[in-house]
Amino acid sequence: PLIYVLNGPNLNLLGTREPEIYGTDTLDDIAGRLDDQAHELGLEIDFRQSNHEGHLVDWLHEAQAESAKAVLLNAGAYTHTSIALHDAIKSIKVPVIEVHLSDPMKREPFRHISYVGMAAHSCFAGHGAKSYELALDAAARL
Ligand code: DQA
Repeated sequence: PLIYVLNGPNLNLLGTREPEIYGTDTLDDIAGRLDDQAHELGLEIDFRQSNHEGHLVDWLHEAQAESAKAVLLNAGAYTHTSIALHDAIKSIKVPVIEVHLSDPMKREPFRHISYVGMAAHSCFAGHGAKSYELALDAAARL
């Protein structure tokens, strides 16, 4: 089974980006650990990052075309702005699990709305890089 792990804007800078909020792991560190975990779970992961909203929309469509079992999506700030991502999630049958390192509900009010969350299957947030690992475990059990 194939799991897409899609990461949105500014997540390429993890490690140095506001480490007091997001920790010091880089996106490569996270990808490496997820690969090991996926192997143990008998899953294959396709891990990607883009700063462009449309790429994330295209990749959600692709996940469906490739018969992915699930998508883990950390849409970064597009979480709070993107009706296009909301619609894309609604447009596919593949379950999408929302992921965040921080807990947006405990931060600024503009992060309290999640267009992704309103369409997603479930959400893991506030566990730092471990949010991804918890979400992958959940994906394995779907
Ligand atoms: C984030 C939370 C978002 O509010 C923020 O815009 C990000 C990262 C997280 O993983 O905690 O870019 O998605």
